[in-house]
Amino acid sequence: MRLYLIISLFLNYQHVLPLPQTAPYLTATALVAKNGNTAFECWLLTKPFERPSLSGLNGAQVANIGNFTNLSYSIMPPRWDGNGLHNSPALQLVHYLSGVAHVTLPHNSVEAWIKGGVEGLLFATDTTGTGHFTKYPTNEETVVIMAPFKDRKGPDHIILANRPCNKQQKFPQGS
Ligand SMILES: *[C@@H]1O[C@H](CO)[C@@H](O)[C@H](O)[C@H]1NC(C)=O
Ligand SMILES: *[C@@H]1O[C@H](CO)[C@@H](O)[C@H](O)[C@H]1NC(C)=O
Repeated sequence: MRLYLIISLFLNYQHVLPLPQTAPYLTATALVAKNGNTAFECWLLTKPFERPSLSGLNGAQVANIGNFTNLSYSIMPPRWDGNGLHNSPALQLVHYLSGVAHVTLPHNSVEAWIKGGVEGLLFATDTTGTGHFTKYPTNEETVVIMAPFKDRKGPDHIILANRPCNKQQKFPQGS
């Protein structure tokens, strides 16, 4: 709680400064298991973007998200219902590259529309709990990268909200 207050103060302070070109922290929606239910959270990764001096990245902003066991590239068909209610098969990073994923929960009306592209990041960690539905309602294929975290260790984060993030993934443009 105290850490959260300190970080909130810091983030509020950021708002009154001239905004940097792009923001220093990555935010993304997460699916979590909470009291036996699957729920949404909006996470802000506590490790800020870095500006590495490596050749090819000198000038870029890099958020290191963690270590992964493997990585897959999947193509979901257009207008697909994604096999109904399911849990995340692993504690994993999911990044939609194209199309749209519509994620809903069985026990309340909170929903997330995740657009493929720069706003397409999701942390799927509800390996237990009631699970979720993911539908792919658009007329295009939804391409998605999935990568399970090594040792089930997701990124350190604070919870900005008990709902999906609004839009952009870089704080403070949206949360
Ligand atoms: C990722 O692996 C490296 C090398 O083993 C380790 O130093 C680092 O702490 C790991 N990062 C996380 C987030 O676990
Ligand atoms: C990748 O990781 C997933 C989840 O841990 C696992 O089910 C799958 O078999 C792995 N694939 C390979 C090729 O190792």
